[in-house]
Amino acid sequence: MKNKNWTSRAPGNLFLLGEHSVVYNRKALLTSIGKYTKAEANERNDEKIHVKSKGYGEIDTTLKELEKIEYEDHEDYENEMDPIKDLLRKYKQEKGLKTGLNIEISSDIPKESGGMSSSTAVLSSVLRILNKVNEENMMGKEYFKFLLPIQVKIHGGAASGSEIMSSTLGGYNTVRKTDEGVKYENISPEKLHIVIGDTGIEAKTSETVSYVKRGWENHEEPYEEAFDEIEKIVEEGERAIERRNKEKLGKSMNKNQEKLRILGVSHPKLESLISASLNAGALGAKLSGGGKGGIMIALTEEKNQEDVAKAIERKRGRTITTEIGVRGAKTY
Ligand code: MEV
Repeated sequence: MKNKNWTSRAPGNLFLLGEHSVVYNRKALLTSIGKYTKAEANERNDEKIHVKSKGYGEIDTTLKELEKIEYEDHEDYENEMDPIKDLLRKYKQEKGLKTGLNIEISSDIPKESGGMSSSTAVLSSVLRILNKVNEENMMGKEYFKFLLPIQVKIHGGAASGSEIMSSTLGGYNTVRKTDEGVKYENISPEKLHIVIGDTGIEAKTSETVSYVKRGWENHEEPYEEAFDEIEKIVEEGERAIERRNKEKLGKSMNKNQEKLRILGVSHPKLESLISASLNAGALGAKLSGGGKGGIMIALTEEKNQEDVAKAIERKRGRTITTEIGVRGAKTY
């Protein structure tokens, strides 16, 4: 009998509004992007699991070994393949997995660019495959519940998990982490145009999250106020998307950037790329993700997307021009 095979893909994601404050249970607005991670799995005739991810590494394990291993906290993640191994472990231990697999992961989300949730897209495409192998029907919220502990370890101990909902559902999602799980709302799937500008400066999300946490611990009141103000901006942005008002959405992005500057997570290179994009006619621009380096995003009209990209490139930012609001993860 022919061995079975499955393919899944999940989009990368961006924070349009509300990064950082989302860790403190405020609402954030995320979107999927037109860049994907793909996972292809083939059933094996033995108990081995072999995973190969281009540019990241390989995993060689067995169903038996997955029963025994543990990843207690983020310090147990020693290499880039460990989160995937942790996912396989959790799946085997909680849901059971009967067949050995060869899994190949590839991605058109650049590895060196942080802020596009390539790690979430990988997790969500592999989890999709495992559900397909087991004929398990998981809903969006269950994806969140299953993947959140892994996301927390990837981000060094604190994470909102927002990207999981965005990658799974696609389109635009407002996400709020609650003590019981996650509250989310999927809004209109209209596609918009964006330029992603990469500063080339590596900044670990785990470090920027801890930086904000230290500030919050020392000055809780002003930080809480800033988070409340950001939430209002997120709500404005949400209404702008519902009303298909790109100009308003752009303004919300600019306002959010002001607050992120105050939180201390911007960077001169981010600021330079943001100014360049606004001067070239972007509707709004801000950092996206953890900040202190990483990426910025500029919302554009389709007709001036290239001009904005060129302006960012002139300031030595690497660019990706893409659409946002694309369909979420799928298996085929
Ligand atoms: C990082 O991509 C976004 C943060 O809000 C952290 C998180 O939500 O887990 C900074």
